[in-house]
Amino acid sequence: MLYQAASNRYQQMQYRQCGNSGLRLPEISLGLWQNFGSVDDPTNFRQILFTAFDLGITHFDLANNYGPVPGSAENNFGKILQNDFATYRDELIVSTKAGYTMWDGPYGDWGSKKYLVASLHQSLKRMRLEYVDIFYHHRYDANTPLYETMSALDLMVRQGKALYVGISNYGPAEAAAAFDILKSLGTPCLIHQPKYSMFVRTPENGLLETLQHHGVGCIPFSPLAQGLLTNKYLNGIPDNSRATKELFLKTAHITQEVIEKVRQLNAIALERNQSLAQMAVAWLLKDQRITSVLMGASSARQIQEAVAGLQNTAFSSMELASIERILAS
Ligand SMILES: NC(=O)c1ccc[n+]([C@@H]2O[C@H](COP(=O)([O-])OP(=O)(O)OC[C@H]3O[C@@H](n4cnc5c(N)ncnc54)[C@H](OP(=O)(O)O)[C@@H]3O)[C@@H](O)[C@H]2O)c1
Repeated sequence: MLYQAASNRYQQMQYRQCGNSGLRLPEISLGLWQNFGSVDDPTNFRQILFTAFDLGITHFDLANNYGPVPGSAENNFGKILQNDFATYRDELIVSTKAGYTMWDGPYGDWGSKKYLVASLHQSLKRMRLEYVDIFYHHRYDANTPLYETMSALDLMVRQGKALYVGISNYGPAEAAAAFDILKSLGTPCLIHQPKYSMFVRTPENGLLETLQHHGVGCIPFSPLAQGLLTNKYLNGIPDNSRATKELFLKTAHITQEVIEKVRQLNAIALERNQSLAQMAVAWLLKDQRITSVLMGASSARQIQEAVAGLQNTAFSSMELASIERILAS
């Protein structure tokens, strides 16, 4: 059946300005790292995407290697773009990245111009797009001159293959150097994508300040710590949960110590009339330097739950102090 987007889709979502740019992103964006590959159920992932867009989520985040198999998330998303979202292309922000291993040999990894330009070419073909809205360098490469990597991003914009560029997994010093080069080339950096959640606080050690100083947006990935910051694992490890796949989140990560913290965080969330997943998203959005929270989902229901939680993103100082006590315990 032909997908028809909900007519009220822009009434329930807030959009935040991305750094000093003119682009606004939804408070929640959806990533296609897992659950959208060739091994996954197309009926389910189509429903996730439709539900997200119906709730005002306009930004979908991909990378060349998302799958499994690598490339298949872009390919699946491309089919949906062509068949279901074709009339909505100009309402969507589609991002992709390159920087991790994608193909054999010296030109399928890291940060050379050769790799990045070829990879974007492949991504556009898989997604059946003329351009992406955001292209990211996926991780810092100490063995390629930063000027070469940033020149490749600038070239993509000049060629009309990307509208904006970003970086991901760069530390504050490398990020600042990249921003300066991009500015000198006339292609300011739009956004940085770091790992950030109640469990992973690294961006608080200088990165958030650097982004604010340079007018660059911030889109934290894995805001739910891959599902740990939800009520999912409180009573054991459910079948089909991400941990059972033993890929990036492993059952060995779900220790008694972690679950004890999750149990206490869950109690605070309940006092706020929220689920823990909702509180984990809100906890990031309380900081106005955060442009959008980039979550993943294995069901449409998880998206509905997260968006419903956007009604309450404010925290009392007592709540924040209690959260800090739990995390430090
Ligand atoms: N730049 C990078 O290097 C990088 C790295 C990683 C990710 N990313 C981006 O960030 C996106 C999000 O990453 P992520 O998937 O790790 O994010 P996440 O939001 O921390 O984890 C998503 C997972 O949490 C579980 N979940 C979500 N809502 C839930 C709920 N209400 N109740 C219980 N469980 C819930 C689901 O796992 P189940 O399958 O267990 O249901 C879901 O797949 C990726 O898709 C990708 O676009 C970027």
